[in-house]
Amino acid sequence: MNPLIAPSILAADFANLQQEVEMINDSVADYIHVDIMDGVFVPNISFGLPVVEAINRHAKKPLDVHLMIVEPDKYLEAFQKAGAAQITVHLEACPHLHRTVQAIKALDCKVGVAINPHTPIRLLQDIVKEVDTVLIMSVNPGFGGQEFIENTYKKIHALGELIVETGSHAKIEIDGGVSLANAKKLFEAGANVLVAGNFVFSSENPTETINKLKSIV
Ligand code: DX5
Ligand code: ZN
Repeated sequence: MNPLIAPSILAADFANLQQEVEMINDSVADYIHVDIMDGVFVPNISFGLPVVEAINRHAKKPLDVHLMIVEPDKYLEAFQKAGAAQITVHLEACPHLHRTVQAIKALDCKVGVAINPHTPIRLLQDIVKEVDTVLIMSVNPGFGGQEFIENTYKKIHALGELIVETGSHAKIEIDGGVSLANAKKLFEAGANVLVAGNFVFSSENPTETINKLKSIV
C-alpha cells in the first residue's frame, strides 16, 4: 500500500498563498489539490485561473485540479496551461464524458472522473478503464469542512471490484471530511489518495498533520 495525500488549498490562508504552497512543498504531501467552483455546478465560488497560475509558480508538487464546474470542456486547455498535472471532471457535469476524458488525455494531463455522493459506482462501468483516477466525493461538493458520509466505504469496495473486473489501473481518491479519525479505515478499504482540507490547514502544525495522515497505515 502506498498512501497518497493531497492537501486541499481551498482551506489555506489565501492572503498567504505562497507560504501555504511552500508548506505543502516541504511536507510529505504527494499532490496539491486545487478546487475550482463556479457557483453553478456547486453553490459556491472558489477561485479561477489566475490563482491556479499563481499556485503553480511556487508549487513543487503536481497540481490535482478538481473542476466542480459546468461545461468543463471549455476550460480544459486553460487549466492545463495554468499548470494542472491532473484534471478531474464531474460525471454529473459531462453529458459526453468519454469525449471529455479523451480531450484531457490529448492535453497530456492525467485524467480523473469525480462522482457525487448520490451517484452509483456502476455508472463508471464503461469509463473506468480510460481514467487515471476516480474521485469519490465523501461530502456534497461545494464547501470544505463538512461531515464525512459513511456510505463512502461501500462505494470504495464497489469501485475496487469494478477496477479489478475491468482491468482498470485507476487510483481511488476520496474527497471531503477526511481526518485522522477515518484515514486508516479509508486506506484499508482500498483508497489510494486522500484529499484533506480543513483537517490539515486548521491544525496547529499542518506539516505534521500531513505526515500523520500519510503514515497512518
Ligand atoms: C469540496 C472539495 C474538497 C474540500 C475538502 O467540495 O472538493 O476538496 O476542499 O475539504 P475538507 O477536507 O475540509 O472536507
Ligand atoms: Zn476537491
